[in-house]
Amino acid sequence: MFEWTSSFEIGIPLIDDQHKVLFDIGKELENIAERSDKVDSNDIADLLKKMEDYSIYHFSHEEKLMQAAKYDGLENHKKEHKSFIDYLATVDKNIAKNQGAEKVNELILFLAKWIFKHIKESDFKYGELLKWELKL
Ligand code: FEO
Repeated sequence: MFEWTSSFEIGIPLIDDQHKVLFDIGKELENIAERSDKVDSNDIADLLKKMEDYSIYHFSHEEKLMQAAKYDGLENHKKEHKSFIDYLATVDKNIAKNQGAEKVNELILFLAKWIFKHIKESDFKYGELLKWELKL
């Protein structure tokens, strides 16, 4: 799922690089979940925490850029970010141990769908403005 392609590129290297980090974390989650012999629940928990921390970092950075460019969709965009962070904050990080492999896969699918949709439908909207206003 978490395969980076040019279709995710906004064209702002700073942002694209941060999105690639989210993909890398997602890919690591997938790789661990696919191990049929033994899923390491501690690794899953660490990676979920990593995704939460990095999302907070990336969203905060992105929001500062949108604000600097006076993007009029900022408030709605911030709400989307908050919903994802709130979700990650409450998700059971020990899901592998407590709920099993099937639930881990469902969670990874949810994260992938959310991130893909958010980049393509929401982040893409500010791309041209930021490039123009901030000369990125
Ligand atoms: Fe790149 Fe709005 O997150």
